[in-house]
Amino acid sequence: MLSRQSVFKDESKLDINYLPVRMAHRDYESRLLMEFFSFLTRCPDCMTQRVLVTGEVGTGKTALCQTFGKNISIEVGKRGTKFRYIHVNCREYRGNVAQILHHAVTVFQPNFPIRGFSAEEILKTFLQILDEEQVFVILALDEFDSLIEKEGSDTVYKLTRLQELQQGKQQRISFIFIQRSLVALKNLDDSTQSTLQRNIVTLERYDKEFLTDILNDRVKMAFELATVSEDVVELIAELASTETGNARFGIELLWRSGKYADAKDAERVEPECVRQAVSTIIPTIKRSELDGLGIHEKILLLAIARFFKENKEAYTTLAEIKETYAIICEEYEEKPHSHTQLWKYIQQFAQIDVIKTKVGSTSSRGRSTMISLPSIPAKELEQQLYNLLTRSFR
Ligand SMILES: Nc1ncnc2c1ncn2[C@@H]1O[C@H](COP(=O)(O)OP(=O)(O)O)[C@@H](O)[C@H]1O
Ligand SMILES: [Mg+2]
Repeated sequence: MLSRQSVFKDESKLDINYLPVRMAHRDYESRLLMEFFSFLTRCPDCMTQRVLVTGEVGTGKTALCQTFGKNISIEVGKRGTKFRYIHVNCREYRGNVAQILHHAVTVFQPNFPIRGFSAEEILKTFLQILDEEQVFVILALDEFDSLIEKEGSDTVYKLTRLQELQQGKQQRISFIFIQRSLVALKNLDDSTQSTLQRNIVTLERYDKEFLTDILNDRVKMAFELATVSEDVVELIAELASTETGNARFGIELLWRSGKYADAKDAERVEPECVRQAVSTIIPTIKRSELDGLGIHEKILLLAIARFFKENKEAYTTLAEIKETYAIICEEYEEKPHSHTQLWKYIQQFAQIDVIKTKVGSTSSRGRSTMISLPSIPAKELEQQLYNLLTRSFR
């Protein structure tokens, strides 16, 4: 068999974990972040800093901070200061502060035991290690809202006030808190809120033009010459700009479109490949995000998926979904959770963009909240959740 041609030159440049060398259209935000932490290059033992980075899904929060982390490490290192930038995705640890701090400790002591220590003990160990090694750190807590949700006000208060709790000692930890919106902060006490909001870097949505630039950069790195036309890039940028200016969506769509081109041995990525790709993509939600949901969250989401698979309506309500939810609970021999609990799950789904909610205005339904599933094919979501649930119950 002849070896088959691929439109790709280097697929890895489209990988979710690939860190771009340059963040297009984020010069100002990069500089601002650098400014907030410039004391580290001048007088690292003079102060510590706390900065909040916000922006919608795919606006480059994670990539911006990681790129910044790389750059500042080089700058601080040049001056002979011992420094580490530590980036933790809180959602990966379900917001559990002990596990998040454990991760930070393992940067210095890879074999530090995972069990047997409280969050406070781990924090103490962490501070001790930093003192012993005389190292300064920036701890970037990505998807910080999951920590707020899990641990609540007290823990966040303590984290933001480390310097006060540690009076008389050298301060070594600065923070970057990364989250989608300021909404999650509402659950915190006033003084913590104001501490967190003092230094904010806000990443606005990318418009179509910016997305086109970001995508063009990736096309050059990832695809063979002349396999992706301007029109195709524009089509993808257009789709991504309606998806909340989500660069991740654009890049994933670009990659999938290339896969469809390869699958039919096409020499170029045709618009039809993009259309095929977009109909199968699950935008803004990664499998790992679904995986991270609890059993009842999965069951409820499965109920929503089933509803939309079986009904032509665009909107539903929690009241309507509850019946299906109860039936699925029975299938899995689970006791249904309360209305209040389910309501929390609904808000969570909206936060990770799986569903959208709006306040209904139709008289027949009063003013209840309407739920829609705008961008994920119900059938695909159902299948994925079904697989995940089957795995949990095996
Ligand atoms: N300005 C940019 N230049 C190049 N790539 C970008 C830019 N902004 C985002 N990206 C890419 O888009 C994807 C999503 O960005 P990410 O940082 O994960 O967004 P967020 O954390 O805000 O959800 C990543 O692959 C990232 O590398
Ligand atoms: Mg992110």
